Amino acid sequence: MMENLTIDHTDGILTVSITRPEALNALNLKTLSELIVILQQTYEQADHRGIILTGAGEKAFVAGADIKELSALTQEQAYSFAQNGQRLFKLIEDCPKPVIAAVNGYALGGGCELAMACHIRIASENAKFGQPEVNLGIIPGYGGTQRLTQLVGRGKALELMMTGDTIDAQEAKAIGLVNHVVPKADLMTFTGDMMRRILTKGPFAVSQVIKSVNAGFGFAQAGYEAEAQNFAACTGNADFVEGTSAFIEKRQPQFKGER
Ligand code: COA
Repeated sequence: MMENLTIDHTDGILTVSITRPEALNALNLKTLSELIVILQQTYEQADHRGIILTGAGEKAFVAGADIKELSALTQEQAYSFAQNGQRLFKLIEDCPKPVIAAVNGYALGGGCELAMACHIRIASENAKFGQPEVNLGIIPGYGGTQRLTQLVGRGKALELMMTGDTIDAQEAKAIGLVNHVVPKADLMTFTGDMMRRILTKGPFAVSQVIKSVNAGFGFAQAGYEAEAQNFAACTGNADFVEGTSAFIEKRQPQFKGER
């Protein structure tokens, strides 16, 4: 039994819905630890052949890391927080079995990072993407600075992360952030069909495709380490306190640029 995940296991396909409706499925530490368990099981168990990740409800895939939890972190805790998330997202990226994100709504911050760690992203027409961390006086900490750059290129990645802009599903497809955009009602059928098609192929060959593609990015470990350190540095900054407080208090932040 999982507290924040709803799981359907049919014909070897795990459909994992992140289920925290009160926080638009934001990733708190409990949810991360539950996802780690699912991933570990999928690595080990033959009857786990692939994972489809989605968000419960009508509105959100995942609206980011849990900002309330985030706002209470010390600088030291923030470094572990980033590393912990990075570890889970690497487990997803390196999973020897296919992992597809069915993005059914907001995929912001940690939600966009979660989708990017998956092998393939299918978005419904209402999906929205972005790395809005700068609005909180912080940066992505779960690999977003690296994977967004890999997927859409340095220029667009910098624009999205520096402005914090949210883009719609069609724009996400145009820049290479998602593979397909489908009507909302078709999202799970389309994603399931693609998963089943992959599962008719040689499983070992599929796992070797994943391994080979990921091997090309091995050199980038320094980038993830820099991201965790820089994420933690932001939490020691007065603007981070202002940014997260403003979100919780439902007001615009007044950043002063002080350390
Ligand atoms: N962490 C914690 N709680 C979150 C959250 C997050 N990332 N995103 C949304 N929530 C909560 C809100 O606080 C609100 O809770 P409340 O009803 O107790 O006030 C509830 O989810 C609904 O969100 P709300 O902002 O009222 O919905 P909306 O439709 O007006 O806006 C979003 C939707 C996604 C645009 C907005 O919630 C948002 O900007 N979320 C944060 C996105 C973000 O910055 N993510 C990166 C985090 S590092």
